[in-house]
Amino acid sequence: MRIGLSYDLKSAVADRHAPDDALEEYDSPETVAIIAGALEKKGHQVVKLGGGIEFLDNIRRESVDIVFNISEGRGDFRSREAQVPSVLEMLDIPYTGSDPLCLTVCLDKVAAKRLVASVGIPTPRWLTVEDELEMERLDWQGFPFPAIVKPAYEGSSKGIRLTSLVESAPQTEEEITRILKNYQQPVMVEEFISGDEVTVGIIGNSPPKLVGMMRILPKKKEQRFVYSVEVKRDYLNLVEYESPVQLPVPVLDKLEQYSLKAFKVLGCRDFSRVDFRIGRDDTPYFLEINPLPGLGSYSDLIIMALKLGWTHDDVIGAVLDAALQRYPQCVSV
Ligand SMILES: Nc1ncnc2c1ncn2[C@@H]1O[C@H](COP(=O)(O)OP(=O)(O)OP(=O)(O)O)[C@@H](O)[C@H]1O
Ligand SMILES: [Mg+2]
Repeated sequence: MRIGLSYDLKSAVADRHAPDDALEEYDSPETVAIIAGALEKKGHQVVKLGGGIEFLDNIRRESVDIVFNISEGRGDFRSREAQVPSVLEMLDIPYTGSDPLCLTVCLDKVAAKRLVASVGIPTPRWLTVEDELEMERLDWQGFPFPAIVKPAYEGSSKGIRLTSLVESAPQTEEEITRILKNYQQPVMVEEFISGDEVTVGIIGNSPPKLVGMMRILPKKKEQRFVYSVEVKRDYLNLVEYESPVQLPVPVLDKLEQYSLKAFKVLGCRDFSRVDFRIGRDDTPYFLEINPLPGLGSYSDLIIMALKLGWTHDDVIGAVLDAALQRYPQCVSV
């Protein structure tokens, strides 16, 4: 098959507002090379389409059977991950991964939380602040501190720093102001769940199956761990990854059940990674789901898969195979 590869490289995206993590979500040439290599090893021809206007030019010029999409999209919009899939749907070109509605709903953490809560998946209490005026009107009495303050439409822990964990109203307001100013989007203030952090990988469709689970443990035993942007950048020194996860079976069962249920209610396809924190009562709380999780060597899904005996190429191949089940016309090419 002739497979197009859509992606947004850090180097290709103009740095408009420039907090230092502005490009955190975008990919590196190494990740693109790994995915292209994995597809070529399966006998496919790979056409690099890039992102943004370059992608639009290339997709009009090239003829491809399917697009392997890892594009994060451009701008601060909550629908940015839907940009490339929307164009592909307009042109009737098959692609891997979730559709525009799913990608948009999942990038908007509040929308995703509302949907998962509607099917009984526990998620921490939160409130959303749209602007400074709304912040000034808020009364923090009764809010369950400690809390975490985070942008509503980001990934890769963009905007989530060590200062994001707050204990009081003034601290919270300072963080809200920082995020409103730097990230041009609503801010979530969410109850902090202090227990273990577990991320769950899923691949496939009918039925979707777990790749596995991975616990993220701080090397320095902190009382309140945050997998912040600082920690993700220095993960080799600051965290240990445990997979398979050594937690009681009932907790693992709930993690599996909630992950698959979230994948389904949010309409995810082909693959996803779901993030949880475990509460004091052993309840896993849904934080967010990533229907376009990183596929680079240092991404959580790949670290987990390698620990569980997959190769990096296996993961890329499994995502493609899941997508191809939707498009039988491609398989006979
Ligand atoms: N309510 C919470 N309670 C405890 N920790 C939290 C909470 N919300 C976020 N965190 C911490 O902050 C980290 C990043 O939060 P979150 O997963 O929402 O952000 P993200 O930028 O979407 O991450 P990703 O890199 O997975 O896309 C979490 O992995 C967790 O360590
Ligand atoms: Mg996350």
